[in-house]
Amino acid sequence: MPAILAIESSCDETAASVCVDRMILSNVVASQKVHEEYGGVVPELASRAHLQAIVPVVDTALKRAKTSLDTIDAYAFTQSPGLIGALLVGAEFAKSCALARHKPLIAAHHMQAHVLANLIQSPDKKNDIPSFPFLCLTVSGGHTQIVLCSDYLTMKVIGQTLDDAAGEAFDKSAKILGLPYPGGPLIDKYAKDGDPDKYKFPEPKIDKLDFSFSGLKTAILYFIHEQKEKNKNFIEENIHDICASIQSRIVSILLNKLKRASAQTGIKNICIAGGVSANSGLRKTFAELGAKEGWKTFIPAFEYCTDNAAMIAITAYFKFLAGQFEDLSVVPSARAAF
Ligand code: KG4
Ligand code: ZN
Repeated sequence: MPAILAIESSCDETAASVCVDRMILSNVVASQKVHEEYGGVVPELASRAHLQAIVPVVDTALKRAKTSLDTIDAYAFTQSPGLIGALLVGAEFAKSCALARHKPLIAAHHMQAHVLANLIQSPDKKNDIPSFPFLCLTVSGGHTQIVLCSDYLTMKVIGQTLDDAAGEAFDKSAKILGLPYPGGPLIDKYAKDGDPDKYKFPEPKIDKLDFSFSGLKTAILYFIHEQKEKNKNFIEENIHDICASIQSRIVSILLNKLKRASAQTGIKNICIAGGVSANSGLRKTFAELGAKEGWKTFIPAFEYCTDNAAMIAITAYFKFLAGQFEDLSVVPSARAAF
């Protein structure tokens, strides 16, 4: 029953979590507001904000778990991928704790952790956990992957985006509509009252299990320009239908490939993960498709979809059991495959 303190600092969220066994005792996330006025994450500002937030965030995570550093058996951090200056803050903090307390250190891969968020046990132990092998569609701000997971720490990417990630497709579409960053959740919000069939955006023809979203972004850009020439209030008057139509196309691109991946591999245990799995349209359509295809579907609890440290803690838990520890020379890396 190891107790693990995990830190996540790969982008613009400073997060800490305490996990004992497979259960999350606390999950604290401080979202950095400083980037809003720039329309995207500014790396140097992210590093500084992590430095300011990390001590209070860890302190709150320990307090909410009703524990202290005395009970912690291992310290974990996100090693990659991410913004290097941001990753360094979490890595050095975890290393310092491990050194000072003479405890093991564990490094987690952020994308692997998004997948393993599906294995977090709820406090009442009533949630279904996928058995191996399973497929996971991981959709975040920087990645879009279909992952074949054959064991806790054995994963293979069998499809991925060739250009923009699904989260970027949401955020860049939102920017075209004049919505603030990050626009994904706002598209979701407006889409709730819109007609998803009102405007037809193209579905790219991409080989195998890979994705592409850059053509969709260009199509949306041209469409909006054209419509605004005819009616300068086009966006304001039709925001719900525009958002619903964009969301519905992004979701259909994702789920058509997931359907193909299931058919090719014969795997019917299917998960989704990552920030975009918080999208209500994706969650609903995924569940409907799963029922139709005879899949067993899994979606992490909402708080474990967008960036968080609970997913780092659960990954570290499995690494602890497998004896996968690091020494203090370990360094973070902006890009690394798993
Ligand atoms: O996994 P995540 O929190 O961070 C990365 O690892 O990138 O994903 C962030 C992405 C952003 O692009 C954000 O717009 C998108 O997830 N996102 C959403 C929703 N919530 C977060 N996209 C669509 N609908 C949402 N409800
Ligand atoms: Zn993420």
